[in-house]
Amino acid sequence: MDREELLRRLPELQKIEDEKLREQVINIFLEHCPSYFWQCPASSSGKHHPPDTRGRHGLWLHSVRAFHAFEDLARTDVEMGLINEKELDYGRAGILLHDIFKQGHEPRDEQHTRENHDRIAARYLGRKTDLPDKVLGLIDSHNGAWYEGKNPENELERLHHRADYIVSRKRCHYEIPDPCEELQEVIQGRKTDEEEEILERLASLQEASKAIDFVEEFTLPGRGKVPSYSLSKIVDYIANGGEQ
Ligand SMILES: [Fe+2]
Ligand SMILES: [Fe+2]
Repeated sequence: MDREELLRRLPELQKIEDEKLREQVINIFLEHCPSYFWQCPASSSGKHHPPDTRGRHGLWLHSVRAFHAFEDLARTDVEMGLINEKELDYGRAGILLHDIFKQGHEPRDEQHTRENHDRIAARYLGRKTDLPDKVLGLIDSHNGAWYEGKNPENELERLHHRADYIVSRKRCHYEIPDPCEELQEVIQGRKTDEEEEILERLASLQEASKAIDFVEEFTLPGRGKVPSYSLSKIVDYIANGGEQ
């Protein structure tokens, strides 16, 4: 990927005001960022993150969303004198880079979230680049109390963590200004909450049909096979997510 293409995909890079820092981050995306970053989902389990970041381009969309959430939240912190403009710039760099090693280094053994992706990124970038320690600290602490990295230790780290956290919530569809073509498509293809509910119910029905095979094999000691009316009750129970 060349510089022009990178800036098309991530125009947010231009918002980093310090030229040296901006060039460092651009260089990291060009030289060190795994190619899966642009394609893979933000969540491999499907349990977390809004639905539109659980598919193709999900991690990319999540990172852009986190950037804008950080930028918006930081405004009030700057106004209150809790962080300064320099720290705001560190935050912009950190939030764009925070998940670039979400699935570890390439080649990947398995395509899933690495529980220590915060530490992997902070250590790797600490070794291979001249990123300021404050930016490395943001990346290391971005998961807050979860995962392997350290807990946030100052206002900037707490703010950075919260920006990532809030856009990772299932129902957060944080608006982003002028998304590029690919992200626009993902956002427009987003399903309504009703459609999501139907899909979730279908998935639980599929689970239930798998359960039939299991339950049909089930026999009660001394009483033979479970009668079929009980089977259908069990299947209904599972399909309703454990509610009668
Ligand atoms: Fe992360
Ligand atoms: Fe994240």
